[in-house]
Amino acid sequence: MTSLNVRPEDSEKTIVCDTITLSEWVTGRSHSYPESNQVVAHRGINVTLPLQVSAEYTIQTKLASGTFGSVFYGEKKSTSRPVAIKIVEASMAKTVLYNGKKTPKEAALLQKIPLHPNIINLIDWAEAYPKHWVFIFEYHGYGQDKPKSTLRHYLRDIARSRGQGLTENEARNIMRQLLAACSHLEKHGVYHGDLKLGNVVINPEGNIKLIDFGLAVEVERGLGRTGSIFPPEMYDYCIPYELSTAQIWVLGAVFYQLFEATNPFHEERIKSKALGPVMFNRYNRPSNECVELIDWMLKVEPNHRPQSVNRVISHGWFGCV
Ligand SMILES: Nc1ncnc2c1ncn2[C@@H]1O[C@H](COP(=O)(O)OP(=O)(O)O)[C@@H](O)[C@H]1O
Ligand SMILES: [Mg+2]
Repeated sequence: MTSLNVRPEDSEKTIVCDTITLSEWVTGRSHSYPESNQVVAHRGINVTLPLQVSAEYTIQTKLASGTFGSVFYGEKKSTSRPVAIKIVEASMAKTVLYNGKKTPKEAALLQKIPLHPNIINLIDWAEAYPKHWVFIFEYHGYGQDKPKSTLRHYLRDIARSRGQGLTENEARNIMRQLLAACSHLEKHGVYHGDLKLGNVVINPEGNIKLIDFGLAVEVERGLGRTGSIFPPEMYDYCIPYELSTAQIWVLGAVFYQLFEATNPFHEERIKSKALGPVMFNRYNRPSNECVELIDWMLKVEPNHRPQSVNRVISHGWFGCV
């Protein structure tokens, strides 16, 4: 029997896994499952969910299928509350010892960090068979009719309907929330490690939440990757770089994408460190104050950028209505 980890929000009910234990799937002994267990396909493999996950949740639409995992839209049967169910191949997920138990790093970090309105809530996680992890997250987005709700999808829809990116006020609302999430993480010694439009979900009220902590890094564990859009200093492979200022650059790139929907620079230019000022479409160029802030965040030299997320938040542009 393995007790599963339960977030405070769901603590009225402790879920107990009686199908398979970690040590059992690590040693590879075979198991039979009751037919009531749900089976989901992830990268051609049929993954059987633990009985209590099957008993508590229904799985509906597939939201995404990537190298690391598949994510499904589902509902908690008793409350109809929407959830996102993520299945990850165990070999693709780093594990750490958390409270003396082998735990996927994504779950350990999210359990360590106090809840925040702009960070997705992990409701539960468990082992699935064969050798997969299953995570139950709160679902955040537009709901069943339009379940894919990342900023990438949102910007694509806006670009199609308006022919351009966000307005300055819309971008300010999103950046405020994204920076608040990053500041909260940093306060607890964590960097997201994969900040990008596809890892932020948005609902119809314009509230955003950061998802996908599969590549997150802890400060005390030393320097690590950050972002799919790499700052120039990360191309100097042998030279250590600061995560905090590298993250500012990545946030600057995301900020730019809110207006332009593309990366601010080609990779070759980033590698050669010949960036120069960012270019905007003249029909959707934000105010000088906004451009100045984005430029500042995207400086080649890390120590020429704002030195903290809080410094970005305190910039005059955020004081505007
Ligand atoms: N909690 C959630 N609410 C809404 N959609 C989600 C949620 N978690 C994941 N998704 C959807 O699933 C996709 C993949 O999830 P993610 O955690 O980023 O996994 P991966 O490691 O495969 O990138 C996201 O881009 C988003 O569309
Ligand atoms: Mg992702």
